[in-house]
Amino acid sequence: MEKKTFYITTPIYYPSGNMTIGHTYTTVAADTMTRFRKMQGYDTYFLTGTDEHGQKIEKKAAEAGVTPIQYVDRIVAETKELWKLMNIQYDDFIRTTEDRHVRIVQKIFRRFYEQGDIYKAEYEGMYCTPCESFWTPTQLVEKDGVKVCPDCGRPCQPMREESYFFRMSKYQDWLIDYIETHPDFIQPAKRANEMLTNFLRPGLQDLCVSRTSVKWGIPVDFDEKHTVYVWIDALSNYITALGYDTEHDELFRKYWPADIHLVGKEIVRFHTIYWPIMLHALGLPLPKQVFGHGWLLFGADRMSKSKGNVVYPEPIVARYGVDPLRYYLMREMPFGADGNYTNESFLTRMNADLANDLGNLVSRTVAMIEKYFGGVMPAWDNNAEEPTGAELRKHCAALPELVNGQMDKLQFSQALAEIWKVIGECNKYIDLTQPWILGKDPEKTGLLGNVLLTLAECVRFTAVLIQPFMPSTPERIFSQLGITDESLKTWDSLKCFGMLKDGIRVCKGEALFPRIDVNKELEALSGGKQETKPEAKPEKKAEKKADKKHEEPEYPAEIAIDEFFRCKIQVARVKACEKVEKSSKLLKFTLGLGKDGERTVVSGIQKWYAPEDLVGRQVAVITNLKPAKLAGIESQGMILSAMDDSGNLRLMSVEEGVEDGAIIG
Ligand code: MSP
Repeated sequence: MEKKTFYITTPIYYPSGNMTIGHTYTTVAADTMTRFRKMQGYDTYFLTGTDEHGQKIEKKAAEAGVTPIQYVDRIVAETKELWKLMNIQYDDFIRTTEDRHVRIVQKIFRRFYEQGDIYKAEYEGMYCTPCESFWTPTQLVEKDGVKVCPDCGRPCQPMREESYFFRMSKYQDWLIDYIETHPDFIQPAKRANEMLTNFLRPGLQDLCVSRTSVKWGIPVDFDEKHTVYVWIDALSNYITALGYDTEHDELFRKYWPADIHLVGKEIVRFHTIYWPIMLHALGLPLPKQVFGHGWLLFGADRMSKSKGNVVYPEPIVARYGVDPLRYYLMREMPFGADGNYTNESFLTRMNADLANDLGNLVSRTVAMIEKYFGGVMPAWDNNAEEPTGAELRKHCAALPELVNGQMDKLQFSQALAEIWKVIGECNKYIDLTQPWILGKDPEKTGLLGNVLLTLAECVRFTAVLIQPFMPSTPERIFSQLGITDESLKTWDSLKCFGMLKDGIRVCKGEALFPRIDVNKELEALSGGKQETKPEAKPEKKAEKKADKKHEEPEYPAEIAIDEFFRCKIQVARVKACEKVEKSSKLLKFTLGLGKDGERTVVSGIQKWYAPEDLVGRQVAVITNLKPAKLAGIESQGMILSAMDDSGNLRLMSVEEGVEDGAIIG
């Protein structure tokens, strides 16, 4: 029987600088998913690569005194080294400067032009040269009276350019219908709503797809002063890498449509609007799913090279090995939500989950088999009752399906949580059965053997199931358990509990994960190039609280309407607003609620608004929140806001004519 295929991709990364722990996060997720499906018997294909064109790279290369290709060659070599270090097993690494990509992109562009999807026109807008981005007037941010780029905060200039445009609007209704009828296409589901509400239903703008000002790009072959601009070039990688539209398109025929495009949430829009439209215009099926995951933040900020608050994986791996970091990345935050990287949380997890829970379980199990059975796995004794472990054995037998259920949803963290539940139960089972007491009574040898065999089989299940997450650790566990039979290391071997047979010789080895001194390690990590958690000053605590609402909580799938009505949301007018002393984030508001009087609210939005610009404006406030002290001031409510696509906070407002104090609902 032919194996089922599974094609997964990461974004192709900009090689403008070295890859960070953020890029590593996506790549480890893709690798973990691939290994999991491979273990289940799928014929997998995992693509990653680099997106090498554009003005930014051109500029970086000039600064470094090398040609663009020399510049990216070096970064690509280092990226490949990093993926090797992280134990990433990709099947192909596509570079957009490769001939196999360039030729097909040119063909695609020409086809779009010939079939009338692309037309030539003038482009006019505000342009940020360092970011190579045109911005609409509403996207620009005002800083000291100057309109600046919302990404880098530098001034923008008006710019006019002849460009080719893709007629996105033509496909809008088709795409709305597609998204509405394919609920799995965009995940998490809230991202689908964002796309429909923010971009598709208001109407799509045609997309600028060429530049005359950017030389470092793929030339439009029928109009050579233009180069193909960013997204047609970049997105096509997912099919050019498979040999689409060439004589050797076997891979394309085999693997397309992709099962999953993994992307960070900031590029969901490109992958769920532009890319589907491009594919549809080419007459191709769409990927089965685009999953937009959250960001690894550093403090409250997105880690980024331009902000200079970057954590690199290499020093962490050099000190602690690859598996702990892979484990942490997949465990720490639910896939889809944002989370903070801190050295402290990493080190704490190493101790708690790896050294204590998993490491101890393995070493205790092996040590007891050595002590009570001379290191030889005991046989199951049918005459010795062992009812205590029945629940555990049942739970462990069900574990592969529980893990699979989570992996189907890309919930890596939950999948690991399921495994760790069994590990926790095993450790409790040891405490409950007290093998050291059973060991003193020769009559209980059968029972003791059953306890240890149960534990060893649970450990085997665990080792098999963590393999996609931590590829090197399972072998170390198998070797301690004396498992050399390859068939006991497979997904199929988990079909029933109790495959582990007596007679094999266990062999206690080094501790899997030695316990570490967190404080000492924190110091060591901050001493090097590695950054650590920013010092938590007392007043920063308040800011953290104020920031909290910008993190993405995991929402329940649904709530009852009366749960919503428990929140009293009112329209309020900003009567006064000032910066909170010694805080770079907080603003203190006096809000007027009409007949409901006034109240003070503290909000962490200083970064986005000058206080004087807000006075007189109407905002939306939750007024029945329990008051909280922020920087010593009692805040009596929460002002509602949302992040725009570029990560800028925007206050919610109501249309003119609504009275202060009016209820929103
Ligand atoms: N070249 C484009 C993607 C084109 S895909 C056809 C690009 N490149 S990038 O280098 O900026 O990489 C962005 C991706 O890297 C994100 O979508 C995400 O997958 C990953 N991440 C980079 N930093 C990250 C974090 N701090 N946190 C989580 N993921 C991050 O965009």
